[in-house]
Amino acid sequence: MLFPEGVLIDGVTGAVSPATGRYVKKLSTLRDLYETPPLVDAYLAEHGDVDAYEVVEYRPDGSDVCFGTTIMAPGRIGSEYFLTRGHYHARSDRGETYYTQSGEGLLLLHSRSGACSVLEMRAGVCAFIPPAWAHRSVNTGPGKLVFVWTCTSDAGHDYGEIATRGMRQRAVERDGRPTIVPNQNYRD
Ligand code: F6R
Ligand code: ZN
Repeated sequence: MLFPEGVLIDGVTGAVSPATGRYVKKLSTLRDLYETPPLVDAYLAEHGDVDAYEVVEYRPDGSDVCFGTTIMAPGRIGSEYFLTRGHYHARSDRGETYYTQSGEGLLLLHSRSGACSVLEMRAGVCAFIPPAWAHRSVNTGPGKLVFVWTCTSDAGHDYGEIATRGMRQRAVERDGRPTIVPNQNYRD
C-alpha cells in the first residue's frame, strides 16, 4: 500500500528529500547533440568532463505519478547553451510539467507534425508539455537552472529519435542574448 509523503524540494540546489534515485550527465556524453562537436572536445580539454546536469527523482514503487528535479549547469559550447538530451515520451499520450524554481532557460519543443514552440523558463513559470511533443531544456543564464518536473510513471523516454534527427531548433547566444535559430543539422 502506498502512503502519503511530503517531499522537500530545495528550489536553489534542486535537492529532493527523500529521493528514490538520481543520475548525472557528463558533458562528454552529450557531445554529438551540439551543432559543432569539436567545440565540445575543446571545452573538455580546457575544463575537464564537467557535470552538465543532474536529475533527482521521487518515484515510489507502484505509484502512477512521479516527480523530481533537473539541475543544469551554466555554460556554452561556442555560442550554443548547455542543453539536455531532449526526448519524446515513449507513451505518446503522456504529457509533463516543468516548474522552474531558479535560474533562466528556454524549453524547446516540437511535434512530429513540425509545430515548434519555445517557452521561457524562470522562477514561477510552470510549463505545460503536451503529449507527443519532444522537449529539451537549455540553460541560458549565468547560474544553475533548477526545475521540478512531474509526469506519470509510465510515460517513459524515447531518446532515439532526437539523438538521430536532432531538435528542430537550437538556442544560441547572439549579441549577448539568447536567440532561437533553426537547427541546420535537423534530419527531416
Ligand atoms: C522526464 C523529463 C525530465 C528529463 C530531464 C533530463 O520526462 O522530461 O525529467 O528527463 O530534464 O532531460 P533528458 O531526459 O532529455 O536528458
Ligand atoms: Zn519528459
